[in-house]
Amino acid sequence: MSRSAHPAGPRHGDVMPEGHVSAPPADLNALDPKVWSRTVARAADAEGVVSVGGMDVLTLAEQFGTPAYILDEQDFRARCRAWRDAFGTGADVYYAGKAFLSRAVVRWLHEEGLNVDVCSGGELTVALSAGMPAERIAFHGNNKSQAELEYAVKSGVGHIVVDSFDELVRLSWIARQQGIRQRILIRVTVGVEAHTHEFIATAHEDQKFGLSLSGGMAAEAVRRALTLDGLELAGIHSHIGSQIFDTAGFEVAARRVVGLLAEIKAEHGVELPEIDLGGGLGIAYTSDDDPREPAEIAASLTEIVRRECAAEGLTPPRISVEPGRAIVGPTALTLYQVGTVKPLEGLRTYVSVDGGMSDNIRTALYDAEYSVALVSRRSAAEPMLSRVVGKHCEPATSCPRRLPAGRPAPGDLLAVPATGAYCRSMASNYNHALKPPVVAVSEGEARVIVRRETEEDLLRLDIG
Ligand code: LLP
Repeated sequence: MSRSAHPAGPRHGDVMPEGHVSAPPADLNALDPKVWSRTVARAADAEGVVSVGGMDVLTLAEQFGTPAYILDEQDFRARCRAWRDAFGTGADVYYAGKAFLSRAVVRWLHEEGLNVDVCSGGELTVALSAGMPAERIAFHGNNKSQAELEYAVKSGVGHIVVDSFDELVRLSWIARQQGIRQRILIRVTVGVEAHTHEFIATAHEDQKFGLSLSGGMAAEAVRRALTLDGLELAGIHSHIGSQIFDTAGFEVAARRVVGLLAEIKAEHGVELPEIDLGGGLGIAYTSDDDPREPAEIAASLTEIVRRECAAEGLTPPRISVEPGRAIVGPTALTLYQVGTVKPLEGLRTYVSVDGGMSDNIRTALYDAEYSVALVSRRSAAEPMLSRVVGKHCEPATSCPRRLPAGRPAPGDLLAVPATGAYCRSMASNYNHALKPPVVAVSEGEARVIVRRETEEDLLRLDIG
């Protein structure tokens, strides 16, 4: 990628929101602050190059190549603080590492006073190796292996979130073997229909996570946990799903979890000191999305728990939450270079970039929508129907499918915002594509925090 990224040649017209032919947006060069990370700005001059973290995208592409995930450190830290401040010192914020985890990110979390939730031995290794104290780590999963459980207990993780009767027995045995009492939460299914894509909704009854409240499995798990040696039951966990905009689901979940605490007190005379209400708060991928602020969700959850506990005569438990997407999602963009532009007479223009399905599976998997913008220069405003596609051998649109990208030509840079969550962490080597680097930017400096894969990396695993 060179600085002279705009070879002379025919312009192919502006990309239009697909299916929105009659309503082109007023300003193709505008970058909606709801969708882009906080330090993103377009230069006011004629060129209009976009910058993030004080670094312009031409320099970033030249130094680090494309495609690349560009992570806005300042915005990441600000979002961590917003969650911390919203819940205050009486609560814990666990960042959900599955959204995106790297050692630099773990260090930022540590510095900003957040904890981390992991769901595999791999994530636990990354968190521990970057210095996150084990007691500030919670370990999740519906099918943790024996080895993972032993590793977590031996490392001294603060909480293990138990998801089945089998696991209760297994964990009790492991803890006794290691001569400790492991603090656990029991994950329950509260029966809330979260309004999100069915693949990422997790609180309805018919799915693999959790123990059902209404069916009595949750109460039975509590009975067993209270009698098994080696386990200290600290509380109850609920996670209703992901990319949720409506706070009602969280509120119902909080009420039902407190209801279970009351039943536990009535049956066992025990007041459990903690509840974890999971993650799931949605973010804006396009201007149509309207996410809630952490302060709003914190105020409503804290108040509901306080009120319900007062009604039940319970001491309010310590609350934890586990936001992943809402912290890291908006803080990264993916920078791509346009390779070919193919007008199809009477149909649309196909704009192909140098990444796609291997660096962002979410469009294909969840029908997710993203925004996209021409960022290496300003675009002229002559809308035309087009589609931005990746380079993979897959006819499905494996790249963003809406909103204007300007008038892309070969060599131009396009950026897709809000790719911080579940893009690098779900990246694949489809077509033996090399996973892009993650470059952290802050105050005019950029550094690679996860390097680009190389062909040697591929060959190292393929031992022939
Ligand atoms: N806590 C638990 C127990 C979870 O299972 C999850 C996400 C979270 C917290 C964090 O949720 P968040 O705040 O990031 O929504 N791959 C999908 C998302 C799957 C989420 C799985 N669990 C996607 O790309 O949309």
